[in-house]
Amino acid sequence: MKFNSLLAAASVALTATAQPTGTCAPSTPDTFGLVAIHSGNAVQYAGFNAALRSIFAGLPSQNATCDGTDDGFATFYIQDSALFLYGPSETPQQIFVDRSGMGQGKIGYTVGDESGPRNGERTGWAIDADNHLQFDGSDLIACPNSIDGAYSIWASAGVANPAGNSDCVGIAARVEKSTDATRCTYSS
Ligand SMILES: *[C@@H]1O[C@H](CO)[C@@H](O)[C@H](O)[C@H]1NC(C)=O
Repeated sequence: MKFNSLLAAASVALTATAQPTGTCAPSTPDTFGLVAIHSGNAVQYAGFNAALRSIFAGLPSQNATCDGTDDGFATFYIQDSALFLYGPSETPQQIFVDRSGMGQGKIGYTVGDESGPRNGERTGWAIDADNHLQFDGSDLIACPNSIDGAYSIWASAGVANPAGNSDCVGIAARVEKSTDATRCTYSS
């Protein structure tokens, strides 16, 4: 009797410890890519990329260093309203937004334990009810004629054409859940 209940307890304990490792691979966050949505504009459906410490849409090649093949698009995840690029956990690449007069909505990323710019904000990211990634409740901005013919991506800081750009447009950043994402280190 006593022996049986001990055995039962032991098997419950075994099941309880076996399940987490069996059903979810440790430390795999919900990863996603992003697609620009602005109907009628050339940026429509351009995928987001990360390169040179900036975020783009429509880059022909982002030149990331990946575990597998670089599919050409950036993979993100959100943790406690902070936004990260999905990469090696030892050297995280974390997104910041600079809405100061200097930054005008600049989106960049830090590498490893870098602290980021003085006015950089790291939290405030969320996916809204329409499945769009927003910063502080606002949609993002895409400006044409960036490097390699791509769009540079900005957060809203109340400046329609940030940092001397022109013809920028507001976009929705549509979240595309990724399965089997590859970890990448994006260029800096
Ligand atoms: C990627 O590499 C190619 C070839 O060197 C270069 O032309 C291109 O500008 C690079 N793109 C970025 C975003 O660094």
